Parts: sequence; structure tokens; C-alpha cells
Amino acid sequence: MLDDNSSGQDPTISETAQTAATPSRAPFSERLSDTLQHGVAALVGANRKPPRRLKSWLNGTWLGHPLHPVITDVPIAAWVLTALFDILWLMAPHANSWAIRGAEAAAIVGVLAALGAFATGATDWSDTYGAERSTGLIHGLLMTTAILLYGISSGLRLAVPSGQSILAALVGFGGLVVVSVGAYFGGHLVFRFATGVNHTVSEPFVEHFEPVIALADLPENTLRRVVASGAPVVLLRLGERISAIGATCTHAGGPLDEGTPQGDVVQCPWHSSRFRMRDGHVLTGPATIAAPRYDVRVRDGQVEVKRNGSH
Ligand code: FES
Repeated sequence: MLDDNSSGQDPTISETAQTAATPSRAPFSERLSDTLQHGVAALVGANRKPPRRLKSWLNGTWLGHPLHPVITDVPIAAWVLTALFDILWLMAPHANSWAIRGAEAAAIVGVLAALGAFATGATDWSDTYGAERSTGLIHGLLMTTAILLYGISSGLRLAVPSGQSILAALVGFGGLVVVSVGAYFGGHLVFRFATGVNHTVSEPFVEHFEPVIALADLPENTLRRVVASGAPVVLLRLGERISAIGATCTHAGGPLDEGTPQGDVVQCPWHSSRFRMRDGHVLTGPATIAAPRYDVRVRDGQVEVKRNGSH
């Protein structure tokens, strides 16, 4: 049989060169995250043009607060109740037979609410990167496992007319352990990575008008970053009107001054949240919290700003 090495090169050398030239494959967790994030983005319409209502709704833009942590309390409370009812029933099956119905109802309510938590959490997670994304993946997989366990537990209860199933109770206890570990990782996302936290909250509060730029240096329809008492501010001049809001995106800290102006609206360059320049209102998520709003005046040819409102 003829050697197929028609190039005449030493196959060993060729293989070594090829190995060096081929970038190493991303870890499985990264590839899984990429695939899942693309899937979530497609489902919630993340790549559509604004207003991207479904995604913004799931993020909680309409609420002015991330929706996911609001919902998560419901399944956790319901599943803790499930465990308490199950314990009462197991301690005295005949005296506390009513408890098994309570456990059944609580387990089902928990599963239904957890589906809402799953949808909102996956939507928030689709805008994360790096270590934050990895931690979110662990959190999501654990919570998905818990939903499956409680789904099985609920099914076992419904399959028995009396609702009395020791196996269902044991599966539920297992689900509660998984939920507890998953909740730890959820907390880690907030406290370690500031996921869902207002990224402008620690910026200085500019109490008094402060000159930041000469009016002559402020072109129209162009975002301009200035700093007032240490606080980054983005300015936009449209005709006679000058608007100013915090330059840090409240969602994850993106630089709004590097975003895209669209009339009175600025779009964040990181995850495309849209803020109204005249008052900082969030029009499109994933941001949920309004940008800090600044009052603007012109004195002696200088543009001056101060934070609107009080501490
Ligand atoms: S940082 Fe995420 S939308 Fe601005």
C-alpha cells in the first residue's frame, strides 16, 4: 500500500506542528455554557431588536428589581414546608395523616414556582461571563436537579391515592439538600460576583453643582464622559438640551459613554440595556435599576452637573 504522505514531510514533524497550531479545546463546562447560553438567548429573544419585551420582563426591568430573587423565595419556602410536613407525618403517621396532604400541596407549589425561578435565572445567567458564568452554571444545574427531584417526589405522592409514600418523602429530603447547596452558590453569585447588584451604588453622590466641561467642547449627538467629584457621568447634548446620567451601567458596570446614542436613549455596549438620557429610566434590560440622574445647568460657558434627588 502506498504511503499517502504526498507532501514528502516527516509525519512526526507535521503532527507536532499541527498540534502547536491547533488551539486547545475549551473545557467541557465552557462548551456546555456556550451552548446553553445560545439556547437561552434564542428562546428569550436576546438577539432581537429592542424592546426585547420577553427578556426584559424575565430580567425584571418592569419591576425595577431583578425578578429572579423575588421568585426563588417561594419554592424554597414551599419545599421547607414539604419537609416539615413529611417529618410530622413520619413521626406519627396515624395521628398526623393530614400532614401528608400538606406536604403534597407544598411540593407541587414549589415545583410550579421553581419553573418561574428557572426561567428568570437562566435569562439572567445568559448575560454572564467567566467565573461568574461557571458559578451560575453550577447553581443552575443544582437547582434543576432539585426541580427534578421534587417533580419525582410530587409524582410519587400523586400516584398513591392516600398520598402516603415514604419514598416520596425521602426524595423530597434529598431535593432539600440539593436546594440548600444550590442556594449557597446563588448567594455566592451575589456576594462574590455582584450579579444583579446595582453597580453604581458605591459611587460618590454629587450634592452641589460642579463644572465638568466647557459647553464649547460638548458636541451634539455625541456621548461624552466626564467626572464630577469622582463620579463618572455621561453627557448628551441634543440641541439646547443637555442630559446627564451616571456613566456606569447599573446592570454589570458597562461604560455607557462607549455605548450607542439613539436620540434621547443610550444603549450599553456590553449587554445592550437601554437607558433614557433625560431621567436614567431603563427602557430595555437586562438592567433593572435606573441610572443615576443628574441635573444640568450652564454657567459662564461651563456645563455643571449635580446628582438629582437626595442620598
Ligand atoms: S453592563 Fe450589562 S447591559 Fe450594561
